[in-house]
Amino acid sequence: MDNIILIGFMGCGKSTIGKALAKKINYTFVDTDLYIEEKEQMKISDIFAQKGEEYFRKLETEVLEHFLEQKNIIIATGGGLPLAIENQDILKKQSNVFYLKASPETIFLHVAGDNTRPLLQVSNPKKKIIELLQFRTPIYEKEANYILSVDHKKVKEIVAEMLVYIS
Ligand code: S3P
Repeated sequence: MDNIILIGFMGCGKSTIGKALAKKINYTFVDTDLYIEEKEQMKISDIFAQKGEEYFRKLETEVLEHFLEQKNIIIATGGGLPLAIENQDILKKQSNVFYLKASPETIFLHVAGDNTRPLLQVSNPKKKIIELLQFRTPIYEKEANYILSVDHKKVKEIVAEMLVYIS
């Protein structure tokens, strides 16, 4: 089986689902955001504030390349990772890219009250989610081998669906 990559918007459940799937198939779960925070010894919000988003985006590409040198891993990616052309070139060569598709309502429920995501620290986060989703959805869909809707589903159900597709 090839490595598995999870893409999708903030709060769609990439980490939760990735961990559950990893346990089920005995893969190692990794997370680009967590790895970057460890590498930089800084929280994502501080990296954005002090070094800028562009710097963060470069790190995402490095980390993705680094992870893909390993075997038997499930990678949860940051929500903006599939937007960069460099990352799209990498994703195209993979066979198990899953887009976990969530509605703005599901996302809003999951990220409400969260202050760790710099892009959503605005006066109207729901509006921002809708705007970002409008722009990003076609990209997520294009970059994925499989699209799974996660709305109103239990983690267990989503994992079971994924198992059918993994090659
Ligand atoms: C971002 C998503 C975040 C994190 C950063 C930027 C984005 O990851 O990488 O705050 O641009 O959508 P999650 O999708 O894990 O929240």
